[in-house]
Amino acid sequence: MSSGRLSVVVTRRLPDVVESRMKELFDVSLREDDTPMSRSELTQAVKTADVLVPTLTDQIDSGLIAQAGPQLKLIANYGAGVDHIDVQTARQRGVLVSNTPGVLTDDTADMTMALILAVTRRIPEGLAVMQSNEWLGWSPTALLGGRISGRRLGILGMGRIGQAVARRAAAFGMQVHYHNRKRLRPEIEQDLGATYWESLDQMVARMDVISINCPHTPSTFHLMNARRLKLMKNDAVIVNTSRGEVIDENALTRMLRAGEISGAGLDVYEHGTDINPRLRELKNVVLLPHMGSATVEGRAEMGEKVIINIKTFADGHRPPDQVVPGML
Ligand code: DGY
Repeated sequence: MSSGRLSVVVTRRLPDVVESRMKELFDVSLREDDTPMSRSELTQAVKTADVLVPTLTDQIDSGLIAQAGPQLKLIANYGAGVDHIDVQTARQRGVLVSNTPGVLTDDTADMTMALILAVTRRIPEGLAVMQSNEWLGWSPTALLGGRISGRRLGILGMGRIGQAVARRAAAFGMQVHYHNRKRLRPEIEQDLGATYWESLDQMVARMDVISINCPHTPSTFHLMNARRLKLMKNDAVIVNTSRGEVIDENALTRMLRAGEISGAGLDVYEHGTDINPRLRELKNVVLLPHMGSATVEGRAEMGEKVIINIKTFADGHRPPDQVVPGML
């Protein structure tokens, strides 16, 4: 298949630099508004495109894939997480799936540290004082937060992003602990100075900060459920830059309100934009609108990865970032 003839449908507005390159390379249909496609627009897209470029705001489920025309050969996701795509059904239909791992690792890890600091050092509360012009000058007792150096950080999910968080946290003087499906090789553990916990329960009960860095899969759904959240120390905080579904958001909200967990920094939510309103009211919570990978550089590199995946596929090879069922 020649890439010049490939019909590519992109479901969301992408950075200009990415869209321009796609126009040069493919017969591409770009999105004019920065809104997700409706279900009928998505259906139309899978009926006509050779390659679909969705994002995490599109549900590419079995029902949609069932409606795809025989020409659809590749779903080249703009993003690393693929929990919105039914990869198994795509495979059964002979449709390959690719993603964009690696290029958003550092940005997401930076945002994880930003959230840890924002919650523990009460940055939004300080900002609110300044914006409301209420600051009366330095005070020995105002807005005291908690020091992070010397604190124990428990990373849940020690893939690329978890490891990048570990490196940053160590530089801030935190003690790094982790739980992962598979233990890291000893030399990597040593390099990161990370302590492995086979039991997630035991790790959770002993940490000052928990960071969620695992993907959302059927086995990580509500991994931080009410029972496990209850194991956290009352003065501990939790941050999540991965996927909201890993935490039971209602249980977390109840515990934050009851003071059973000291704070939370969330970039992602269990039900997308439908956030528990009580979460918004809490002072000990920092909420961000899924900005972990939102850098100019990261979003351009994600686009480059999408293009490389499409071009490699068009040249008759496996896309370098092909996702296969069970690999996540
Ligand atoms: C991804 O790529 O899955 C990220 O969540 C986007 O920020």
